[in-house]
Amino acid sequence: MEKIYRDADVSMKPLDGKLVAVIGYGIQGKAQAANVRDSGVKVIIGTRPPEESTSRAQAKADGFEAYSIAEATKRADVLLIELADPAQPPIYKTDIAPNLSAGKTLCFCHGFNVLYGVIQPPKDVNTVLFVPNAPGHLVRQKYLAGEGVYGCVAVDHDATGNALAIALAVAKAVGSTRAGVVEMSFQHETEGDNFEEQILYGGAIQLMRTCFRVMVENGYPPSFAYAKAIRSLRSVIDVMDEVGIEEYISHRCSRTAEFAVRTRGPRVVNEDAIRDIFRETERGEFARDWMQEWALGMPTLHRLRRTAADSEMEKTGQTWRQDFGR
Ligand SMILES: NC(=O)c1ccc[n+]([C@@H]2O[C@H](COP(=O)([O-])OP(=O)(O)OC[C@H]3O[C@@H](n4cnc5c(N)ncnc54)[C@H](OP(=O)(O)O)[C@@H]3O)[C@@H](O)[C@H]2O)c1
Repeated sequence: MEKIYRDADVSMKPLDGKLVAVIGYGIQGKAQAANVRDSGVKVIIGTRPPEESTSRAQAKADGFEAYSIAEATKRADVLLIELADPAQPPIYKTDIAPNLSAGKTLCFCHGFNVLYGVIQPPKDVNTVLFVPNAPGHLVRQKYLAGEGVYGCVAVDHDATGNALAIALAVAKAVGSTRAGVVEMSFQHETEGDNFEEQILYGGAIQLMRTCFRVMVENGYPPSFAYAKAIRSLRSVIDVMDEVGIEEYISHRCSRTAEFAVRTRGPRVVNEDAIRDIFRETERGEFARDWMQEWALGMPTLHRLRRTAADSEMEKTGQTWRQDFGR
């Protein structure tokens, strides 16, 4: 049985009198820092030096005390690690690790670096994770509306005996226990995230591109193919999320669409390939490939980006948005 924590199950006491440092003031850091502060917890920000950081000035403009990452680490009791994942290992080594001391808590927002041992926190420090399941702007928007986004917590190492309670208090301060927070492991959070990125992002984008390409190759006007490949999907996703997939297929789309979904959909998806990718992810092969790609300066991504940016679909999309609206 999965355990879901809601507001009433979680105490903010573990953060009483504690100083929280948000390390990295980007997409998640900015949103989480604002929510935690509005929940009554004292928050400071740690960023790279002003000449390197794109966000130090913004943090100050938003009314936070901003320090170097080393200084913020020294001062804080609980550190929310909100740096881009590949940027974390070198910064952890030079700025965070030397300034940790017994009883502090490192709270990650993705388990990748800890799971694969790229970051190995000392044993007298709590290593936990809290991840809201939404991009930063939505984390903030929902909080301001009195709501929250579903999230997860995990404990990799409990040094103080209350590591889970601290992770949950962070989740509550960010607003996620208003919706619900599930407890899981670093392994499942990381592999689940990597699996979703490959299958859902990778698969859905590949489907849209292939749909567009095949229609254009067969003489359809590009603007029509673009509307089919992207706009149609966009218009139904929200409805499916609101009412459920089965309700949508059975009652909210045409019978032709229902017939197409039920009889042709399974032919489009290669379930064996999805299972292969799941196993590769579990074996750490995706993580290894990605770490190698990052270490080499992302040559594969640079090459693939160039090809995709020049594609007919991207060009059609640019004019489509101008001609027919966003
Ligand atoms: N994006 C999301 O919505 C989302 C959702 C769930 C979980 N997460 C997790 O949240 C954490 C933060 O992700 P994010 O998307 O918020 O990160 P981000 O906005 O891309 O970057 C956060 C900060 O990392 C620093 N940074 C970025 N690239 C760097 C580089 N090459 N070298 C050194 N520093 C660099 C920047 O610091 P400066 O400002 O000082 O330049 C930046 O402000 C990650 O663990 C991520 O997996 C993100």
